[in-house]
Amino acid sequence: MKINSICCIGAGYVGGPTMAVIAQKCPHIKVTVVDLNESRIADWNDANLENLPVYEPGLDAVVAEARGRNLFFSTDVDKAIDEAQMIFISVNTPTKNYGAGKGMAADLKYIELCARQIARVSKQDKIVVEKSTLPVRTAEAIKNILDHTGNGVQFQILSNPEFLAEGTAVQDLHNPDRVLIGGEDKDAIKSLVDIYANWVPAEKILTTNVWSSELSKLTANAFLAQRVSSINAISELCEKTGADVSEVSKAIGMDVRIGSKFLKASVGFGGSCFQKDILNLVYIAKSYGLHEVADYWEQVVIMNDHQKNRFSRNIVQTLYNTISGKKITLLGWAFKKDTNDTRESAAINIAQNLIAEQAKIAVYDPKVSEKQIKEDLISLDENQLKLIQVNQDPYEACHNSHAIAVLTEWDEFNTYDWQKIYNNMLKPAFIFDGRNLLDKKQMTKIGFTYIAVGSSNL
Ligand code: NAD
Ligand code: UDX
Repeated sequence: MKINSICCIGAGYVGGPTMAVIAQKCPHIKVTVVDLNESRIADWNDANLENLPVYEPGLDAVVAEARGRNLFFSTDVDKAIDEAQMIFISVNTPTKNYGAGKGMAADLKYIELCARQIARVSKQDKIVVEKSTLPVRTAEAIKNILDHTGNGVQFQILSNPEFLAEGTAVQDLHNPDRVLIGGEDKDAIKSLVDIYANWVPAEKILTTNVWSSELSKLTANAFLAQRVSSINAISELCEKTGADVSEVSKAIGMDVRIGSKFLKASVGFGGSCFQKDILNLVYIAKSYGLHEVADYWEQVVIMNDHQKNRFSRNIVQTLYNTISGKKITLLGWAFKKDTNDTRESAAINIAQNLIAEQAKIAVYDPKVSEKQIKEDLISLDENQLKLIQVNQDPYEACHNSHAIAVLTEWDEFNTYDWQKIYNNMLKPAFIFDGRNLLDKKQMTKIGFTYIAVGSSNL
């Protein structure tokens, strides 16, 4: 089938950018992105591109090029499903927070709702594409729902997981390492291959069976997260022994079998994917009785929790075992640079830990709103919330502070006048660099007590 009309259900961090790039690269295809969330759709349609709901470098230009031409954002889900030959499901698949598998399994209720809506609305044959990250064998459940609608429509199911990373989404979509398409039906596979072939070289479009494709996505995220936990585990050992984790990363990364990427020690990984997808993998392994496999992968998340907690513990210990009433500045709230996404950001955990010790917290992040930061701390009570202040200006955030914790690796932090910041802080002035971002020599020369992850002053 030659595709000229696509619908994507879910206008989030994946649906929005992914479909914007498909529309940009395939002007002959009408792409409609739909969502139940009216304000999100309104933001995607906002004339001012600064108000797009997802901040990604370069995304505004892509949207500007395609929106209104062949890219549309709408809340009319039924109409978009009805008109499309191919439907991408790109809704959220969070960790289940109730019932069996609570805290581990993926919650597939939004996926099932989409499948039922597609089944109800469709009057012609359609290709349904799993874009969301799903447990292996979900396609079977989707197919069961679609095949029992009684209205005689034929559905083909493909798995096409998304590998973009936030902050580099547009770049990743323009030049993917690979595009993965899992399916059974050759014609359906070809229809999707042909779309990507508009800009992705043929050798980078990989086709597999559905189950391999579904499982590859969970596996890729598990491997990536495992590298971060591995280097973070080594960072703790470095702090005890006088080794420097950046030097160790460089030394091991030059081995082409290991590779240099994803070896940056940090305050702990965040983001909506890593933890959720590993826990999902752990749950799947357990459900097949594979307990060793489950324990092996669970350790990646346990290590990450340890890394976040020991970072805040170190702040308390270094500040003479009490931070009650002391002002501590958090530079960065997003889970990584170049995104406004804060889901599972280490900053949330660190802030909660410091507030439990009654510290006063000042936060500055170039892209995250005060509203978002307060929402992330919803579990705090009213009195605890009073301990948080969000600044629009980094110098104000650092004024009269006892310590600064760098939690996101925003480039702009390196451009600050650190002498000025130092002059306006209480002494001794501490920096806890959770990203090893700042220049240790420069900071020490200014007079800061500079504490990085994975190195000591032994
Ligand atoms: P998101 O929460 O940003 O967006 C999902 C959207 O789906 C929301 O706007 C929600 O309102 C909408 N939605 C839910 N149910 C709906 C329904 N029945 N009808 C219409 N709209 C509905 O999530 P996301 O970050 O875009 O992630 C989506 C999927 O992609 C997840 O499975 C995730 O694991 C996967 N993924 C995410 C990333 C990433 O970097 N964020 C990368 C690769 C894969
Ligand atoms: C991840 C995967 O990279 C992507 O392929 C998948 O589609 C979605 O999940 P994302 O979570 O957006 O992408 O960002 P990523 O760059 O993977 O970073 C995840 C977290 O790990 C961030 O908090 C980041 O700061 C941290 N990280 C990453 C490290 O601490 N050290 C590193 O060396 C790399």
